Amino acid sequence: MAGDMGVAHALRGTGRFAAVFSVASAGELRALSRSGRVNPPTAFVFAPGFTEDVPGAGVAAVANGLADNGFTVVVHAFFVERGDRFGANVRITGHRRPTPELLSLLGVTERNAPPPRVLPQPAHRQGLRQPPATPPPVAPRAGGRVVAIAAAKGGVGRTSLIVNLAVHAARSLRAAGRPGRTVLVDTSIRQADVGRFLNVRSPTILDLLHAPGALSPDLVRRHLAHVPEVDLHTLLGPPEVIDADPALVGSVPYPRILALLRQMFDFVFVDTPVAEPHHTTLADLVLPAADAILVPVEPNRPTLEIVHSWLKTITMPRSSRGGGVAPEKVSLILNRARGDVGCGPKEVMDIMPGWRFAGMIPQDREWMRTVNGGRLIALNGDPELDAVLSSILWVAAEDPAFATAMRSPNGGMGRRRRILGLPVK
Ligand SMILES: Nc1ncnc2c1ncn2[C@@H]1O[C@H](COP(=O)(O)OP(=O)(O)OP(=O)(O)O)[C@@H](O)[C@H]1O
Ligand SMILES: [Mg+2]
Repeated sequence: MAGDMGVAHALRGTGRFAAVFSVASAGELRALSRSGRVNPPTAFVFAPGFTEDVPGAGVAAVANGLADNGFTVVVHAFFVERGDRFGANVRITGHRRPTPELLSLLGVTERNAPPPRVLPQPAHRQGLRQPPATPPPVAPRAGGRVVAIAAAKGGVGRTSLIVNLAVHAARSLRAAGRPGRTVLVDTSIRQADVGRFLNVRSPTILDLLHAPGALSPDLVRRHLAHVPEVDLHTLLGPPEVIDADPALVGSVPYPRILALLRQMFDFVFVDTPVAEPHHTTLADLVLPAADAILVPVEPNRPTLEIVHSWLKTITMPRSSRGGGVAPEKVSLILNRARGDVGCGPKEVMDIMPGWRFAGMIPQDREWMRTVNGGRLIALNGDPELDAVLSSILWVAAEDPAFATAMRSPNGGMGRRRRILGLPVK
């Protein structure tokens, strides 16, 4: 497994392999293959966290070479999206690595497992190697999925991203016959602005906390604001900064509220305060409840190094003064991406090896225009943006509603690629 420790861990956990080795870079892969510890039959998986630190040994060259020599090779679709070309024997996997799907690509069928889910590819990957367009089965859910957005510094796009992801999710679920199954919670108590993005003002968390009676699903439901356009519910933060009494921070029973919302909704999206290490709201109340943590990063080398170090801290065990977050929950979003600043997805993954990559949002004037105009870019009907939001949601939660939406029409593909400096197909 090259470039994703979380997947290596998951593969090891299946017990279906004699050994699972995890390497972060081409250099490590070369050292491993020379060590004599790897015995055939061997399969290789390349994930976006792989560092291409050996000249001439980029993923395309290595994967094609291995596949030509008869090895089973699986590469993440990320490499296809960035323009790599692979021979017919290299297998491509989707944005998330559902273990059954990966096992099946590796030629292993899971014991007592349902048939592997087939991941539909976004339209711009068509013409490569398309899996059959069979809709994936709806997995029975024990409860909804909590998807939090978190960042070590402010202003990186947390709120606009999570609001638009929630809006896109609510719309996709409604289109899939599951209206009203999405809720967005603003836990950024001191600077709550989700309501400003959504143009809703009340009720808020303060109303919920002051309401008589024990915290119950009914009480929480009565304190959710509603965005009728997409049937999105939201639990807003305090409307004014002055209301965010420091005593309030930390006293909000977020774990209980999130547990109740999880029972009531399919998706619970969470905006969070700036996540300085050891921030109480985030570290103690929100992150432990999250099933997926999306981390927006900007194309800026110094801050990427800080984010890498922050992620290492929050994923270290609590016994080592870390945050105790499972690393496989974390996925990066490259936000404000552009093709002309010397820091694209490849550089991000080089600087931050080992983390899963969920997708890229370009630096987009329309993004700011919609924010400033009180509109939601997710409602613009831009098929390219819809496809990106769907693939990020697919990474955070393999829900079939997002897989279907990823099959966007071909029309309109190009604006995003142009901003990103990618070849326009
Ligand atoms: N991809 C993008 N393209 C253009 N502008 C963007 C993009 N992402 C975010 N922005 C702009 O950056 C600013 C900050 O975004 P946002 O409020 O979502 O970030 P934040 O991390 O929640 O900030 P805060 O720390 O204030 O809570 C906004 O003006 C937003 O429109
Ligand atoms: Mg914000």
